[in-house]
Amino acid sequence: MKLKFKIILGIISLVVLAQLIRPEEISSAKAQPVKMLAGVPEEVAKVLETSCFDCHSSQTSWRWFDRLTPVNFLVASHIRDGRKTLDFSQWDSLATPQRNAMLYFALNGILSKEMPLSSYTTLHPSAKLDPKDIDLLRAYLLNNAVSKPSNVENKADKPFVKEVKKSPNGMAYLPNYRNWKAISTTERFDNGTIRIIFGNPIAVEAIHKGKTNPWPDGTIFAKTAWKQQKAEDGNVYAGQFVQVEFMVKGAKRYAGTKGWGWARWKGENLLPYGKTVKFDSECISCHRPERNSDYVFTRPLDIKGLDKK
Ligand code: HEC
Ligand code: HEC
Repeated sequence: MKLKFKIILGIISLVVLAQLIRPEEISSAKAQPVKMLAGVPEEVAKVLETSCFDCHSSQTSWRWFDRLTPVNFLVASHIRDGRKTLDFSQWDSLATPQRNAMLYFALNGILSKEMPLSSYTTLHPSAKLDPKDIDLLRAYLLNNAVSKPSNVENKADKPFVKEVKKSPNGMAYLPNYRNWKAISTTERFDNGTIRIIFGNPIAVEAIHKGKTNPWPDGTIFAKTAWKQQKAEDGNVYAGQFVQVEFMVKGAKRYAGTKGWGWARWKGENLLPYGKTVKFDSECISCHRPERNSDYVFTRPLDIKGLDKK
């Protein structure tokens, strides 16, 4: 009995003593309120404020249990890493297209179910998003952040250029993609484009076999983007060609860039994109939320459904 008492007392004093050890920096940083996201309707801004600002802005709100060691170390590291990737406190210094891109980036984080961190919402249930909140954000991006469809003629079927230069990382242009299977189409709200994603035969076979994580070597995706063009009847269809992007799988060959070779050619002149060899770090960082799906956004499940028809 006495021993038991001693042990309990020992544990209690350890917990109390542990409180003296506190994480650096953020423990002392005072919470600074962020102004409402300018130009965004209040209810949309509210969704982000409630669910994301704790880790993605200088406006943090610590509950009493967040301040306990060791929880505070975890919270501090979330805030540090969270702000590094996305910081809403910078909103006022951003131009409209950058703001839209930021919201689009945020929406992607939510749709991929990575955000808000589930380890966080367990203790902070008010940060959980319900489908209505997500629809609100999506609808806002769709209706307000979309740029005006252009009226330039669609040159989709005309040959572009005779010779296409290599990408700065040495990847060669692959004109064949037009003969591949279209496996998905998407629409990007913030910049008014329609995109078609093509998969080469190796990609299509992998989908049929259900072996898509990781994708087999030799898989290639091509994603084309076109300006949305509005017809008189109100229908939106592909207008001016914007760009084509490729991801070529080679687990060993492209080990330095997450197992994929990345390349983009822009405009009807197919000019290679990127100033330096390392331009692809931009591609990788935006594809990062999909790191558990081999860095690929497109979901094979959707494709399977389409194939059956
Ligand atoms: C508990 C803290 C926390 C909350 C709340 C939170 N995030 Fe994050 N977020 C992080 C951390 C930490 C990272 C960095 C992840 C990494 O590096 O692995 C991150 C990364 C991201 C990224 C970059 C992509 C990625 O997965 O690496 C996006 C986008 C994002 N968050 C959006 C959001 C949105 C939108 C919300 C609100 C709906 C939100 N986050 C809520 C902590 C949080
Ligand atoms: C702003 C974020 C962002 C950046 C930067 C980005 N991508 Fe993507 N990428 C996406 C999203 C989101 C998708 C999913 C399809 C969609 O929504 O259009 C995608 C899809 C793709 C696909 C189709 C396969 C897939 O993952 O679904 C290819 C190929 C691709 N991107 C190549 C590139 C290349 C090459 C670069 C760099 C030159 C790049 N991307 C940079 C966000 C980005």
